[in-house]
Amino acid sequence: MIRLVPMDENDFARYLARAIPRRAERYVARGVWKEERALETSRQLYAQLLPQGASTPHQHFVRIVESATETSVGEAWYHTEEVGGVVQFWIEWITIEPEHRRKGYASAALDLLEQEARRLGATRTGLDVWSDNPGAFELYRKQGYRTIRQSLVKPLDDK
Ligand SMILES: CC(C)(COP(=O)(O)OP(=O)(O)OC[C@H]1O[C@@H](n2cnc3c(N)ncnc32)[C@H](O)[C@@H]1OP(=O)(O)O)[C@@H](O)C(=O)NCCC(=O)NCCS
Repeated sequence: MIRLVPMDENDFARYLARAIPRRAERYVARGVWKEERALETSRQLYAQLLPQGASTPHQHFVRIVESATETSVGEAWYHTEEVGGVVQFWIEWITIEPEHRRKGYASAALDLLEQEARRLGATRTGLDVWSDNPGAFELYRKQGYRTIRQSLVKPLDDK
């Protein structure tokens, strides 16, 4: 039904142009960053995480393509690294375009990412999900992901 197609330079440039303001907006909404600094902070973060852009070692960017129509329905970013003798396979980001949601594309993409993780010798895959995203959490739960760690914050509104 779908294929994962590595992004070319143009795809990656388009991806980044959306990812930077998207993260800035989400992090402001979540109270992580201040609005006036958010865009610059997001730019700096991506530059730090991806010093060589899409060619940064161990980082992979793919388009999720519906095979029958060759339509790009979403995108994903994952990275692999050997740490402590274990191959870590981490899904940094996955999105399906709004008009293509709830058709099973993310589930199918996660299946393919899992195959890729196995091919690379990983013994498990992982990802982070924010608590304000219950739909994504449900998707991952159905795919067999389980919570192994939780980040807790306490707003200090009185300070
Ligand atoms: C989360 C996201 C990737 C899901 O993509 P999708 O292709 O719609 O997911 P699927 O069709 O494979 O959904 C599989 C199941 O996950 C659950 N699910 C997915 N989206 C959901 C939502 N918005 N609300 C509740 N459950 C949801 C459902 O149980 C669904 O099965 P169902 O449609 O039979 O009820 C998509 O909504 C998205 O791109 N969101 C914005 C980006 C994002 O939040 N990415 C995740 C970052 S951690």
